[in-house]
Amino acid sequence: MTATDGVGQPTVVCLGSLNMDMRVDLSQAPLSGETVMANSMHYLPGGKGANQALGCVRQGARVYMVGNVGADAHGASLVRGLQADGIDTNHVLTDPHSPTGVAMVLVEQTGQNRIVVVGGANQTLRVHAAALEPVLRTADVLVMQLETPVSEVLAAARLAQVNGCKVVLNPSPVQGALPTALWPLVDTLVLNETEAFALCGTDVSVNRNAAIQAVRHFQLLGVPRVVITLGGAGAVAADGEVLTYHPAPQVQVVDTTAAGDTFLGALVVGLARKFLFTQCVRQGIAAASLCVQTAGAQASIPTLAQTMESAPVPDWETL
Ligand code: RIB
Repeated sequence: MTATDGVGQPTVVCLGSLNMDMRVDLSQAPLSGETVMANSMHYLPGGKGANQALGCVRQGARVYMVGNVGADAHGASLVRGLQADGIDTNHVLTDPHSPTGVAMVLVEQTGQNRIVVVGGANQTLRVHAAALEPVLRTADVLVMQLETPVSEVLAAARLAQVNGCKVVLNPSPVQGALPTALWPLVDTLVLNETEAFALCGTDVSVNRNAAIQAVRHFQLLGVPRVVITLGGAGAVAADGEVLTYHPAPQVQVVDTTAAGDTFLGALVVGLARKFLFTQCVRQGIAAASLCVQTAGAQASIPTLAQTMESAPVPDWETL
C-alpha cells in the first residue's frame, strides 16, 4: 500500500543534488576572454535535487530527500532549509571529505541564466539499498536528475522498480550517453530542448515534427512517457501513443532559475495523485510560469494554492 492509498497524501522520494547557489546579477554574461562587472551577488539555496524536492513538497506531497552535503556551513544551512519546508532529510548524509556542492548562477537582465556546478559532496553520493528500500516501498514516485553519479541513479532506479515505485528522470545536466539499461526503468522523462539535442541529436526548436521525432526516439529506448519543455513556448508531451502540445501563458520573465525544477515538482505530484497526464503537464506549466516571475531558485517555487490561483494556462492540443 502506498502513502497515497493510506492517507490521501502522495509520497515522493527525491534523490539528487543540494548546492549553494552563488547568484550573480549582471547585464550580460561575459564572452570568452572578457571581464564584466556584475550588479550583485547572493548566496541562495539550490541544487536540482533540492529544488525538485521543494517543488514536490509545496505541491502537497510528503517528500524524502536523498543526497549528500559536506561538513560545512553551506551543507547545514541547505538541510535546515529543506526541513523548514517539512522535507524528511534523514537520508541526506554528510561527507566529511568533500565540500557541499556549489553552483555559479549568472542571471542576465533578460532573466536567462547560465549555470556552472562544482559537484563536491553530490558526487560522492552512494545508494544504500538497505536504507532506501523501505522508503521506496511506501513511495509513489522516485525523482532523479544527473548532478549525482549516473551509477547511483541507475542503482536507485533498479531498486525503485523492484519496489513498485515509478521513476521520473530529469537528465540534467547531460554529461554524455546514458546507460541503455536505465531507459526502460524510467516511467516519465522530463527534459528541455538543450538536453533533448544532447541526448538524441534533434533540434526540437525547429518545428513540432522535430519535437515529435525526439519524443519517439526516447519512447523507442523504452520510456513510455516523455515531456520536452520548450521554455516560454510551453511543452510537447507523449503518453504512449497520445501526443499533445501545451502552450504556456505569456508572463514577465525575471529569472528562469529553477523553472524546470518547479515544472517537474508539480508534474510529479500530479502523477503521484494519478491525475491525467495532460493535467499533470498543465499543472507543471502553471507552476513554472509563476516561478520565472520571481528571482532566485527555491524562493520562487510556488505552493499548490498559489499555482491554483495563477493565470489560466491555455488549452493543450492533440498532435
Ligand atoms: O535548476 C537550477 C539549479 O541548477 C540551481 O539551483 C543550481 O544549483 C543548479 O543545480
